[in-house]
Amino acid sequence: MKISIFMSFFLLLSWACTKQKVEPKLSDINKVTSCDTSKITFSGKINPIFVANCYGCHDQYDSQFAMQPFSTLKLSISNNKSKFLNSINHNPGASKMPKNGNKLSDCDLKAIATWIDAGMPQD
Ligand code: HEC
Repeated sequence: MKISIFMSFFLLLSWACTKQKVEPKLSDINKVTSCDTSKITFSGKINPIFVANCYGCHDQYDSQFAMQPFSTLKLSISNNKSKFLNSINHNPGASKMPKNGNKLSDCDLKAIATWIDAGMPQD
């Protein structure tokens, strides 16, 4: 009897310790889920996404969808907004971009949509 009480206590204690270890820290949760779309600028967020994923194929000489310089980029997107959004969101039937590459992260897609909705400022 004494042993089983001791054992229960020990099990409870080890369970409590395990539980504590598994509990994720709030700071980690924020790191994973945060996608701050309140301070998006072209130079700080949007342009780096296009540099890393698009400009290599879509420069100013590109006849399919020119994305440079900025004035051309803005014109290309505003004239083909749904085509552009369908492409980067890999929607059915769209020409999926980046071509032969992975879809942009949800956070990047959200940032681009937010920037377009704000009127594509060159900030
Ligand atoms: C490896 C080269 C390559 C990369 C990288 C690339 N594209 Fe493209 N893109 C193309 C080609 C080639 C076409 C012509 C259509 C096709 O072949 O699918 C095209 C077409 C497009 C079109 C027009 C689609 C249509 O329906 O006509 C859009 C919009 C577009 N790209 C946007 C982007 C964006 C935004 C990125 C970056 C996130 C990107 N592309 C990255 C090669 C690329």
